[in-house]
Amino acid sequence: MRFDVITLFPAMFDPLMQVGVIGRAAAKRVFDIEVHNLRDWADPPHYVVDDAPYGGGGGMVMKPEPVRRALSAIRRQAPDSLVVLTTPQGKTFRQQDAVAFSHTAGVIFLCGRYEGVDERIRSWVDEEYSIGDYVLTGGEYAALVMVDAIARLVPGVLGNDASAEDDSFSEGLLEYPHYTRPVEFEGMTVPSVLISGNHGEIARWRRQESLRRTLLRRPDLLARQELDDADRRFVEDLRKGNA
Ligand code: ADE
Repeated sequence: MRFDVITLFPAMFDPLMQVGVIGRAAAKRVFDIEVHNLRDWADPPHYVVDDAPYGGGGGMVMKPEPVRRALSAIRRQAPDSLVVLTTPQGKTFRQQDAVAFSHTAGVIFLCGRYEGVDERIRSWVDEEYSIGDYVLTGGEYAALVMVDAIARLVPGVLGNDASAEDDSFSEGLLEYPHYTRPVEFEGMTVPSVLISGNHGEIARWRRQESLRRTLLRRPDLLARQELDDADRRFVEDLRKGNA
């Protein structure tokens, strides 16, 4: 898989490409990532990438020409990639979107900047995504979040491929609680089932704690979930305060 990022601030992507799990995978070319400076496609002598809005008002608007040139050039190198504009006006990015993108050939992120982008730019992108209902100074952090969420699902990025499977959200539920050594710390103990060695009981406990946590913290997720009979019975007990 390949990621391309078009931004006015390429340095913001240095940590992603150099540090941590994603940085290591990028260095090993488990996926490819290329960060492009939008200014490289602006016109000399001033390499202007934004301008005042027609109709007046404050702020600056990203000009169409450099974006058009950047997209044309990058599309030639990555003809099968989808183009994604990061903007607070986009649809909210979710785990299921990360999974879908991780199965594609690649994504070209266009980081929206300033107060907005010239509306004509929207006709050259395949999708518009927001990472949440708040306004950032630009789309860079949104692109960083999306690259991280997608790249970690690419086979070979996480040390153990199975570790993405139990993720919170991967099945539409929040993940169950985790514990590690020691068994007792400051009077707080590890649930005995986890040290019982009974794998069936452990699996059941984990499922139930996932349901409990999701009901408590994200009932909206639980409402969208298809549950089997055992799950439904347990959730009913939770709602009645019996579990
Ligand atoms: N640009 C500014 N705010 C944003 C957000 N919440 N998501 C994506 N891009 C943005």
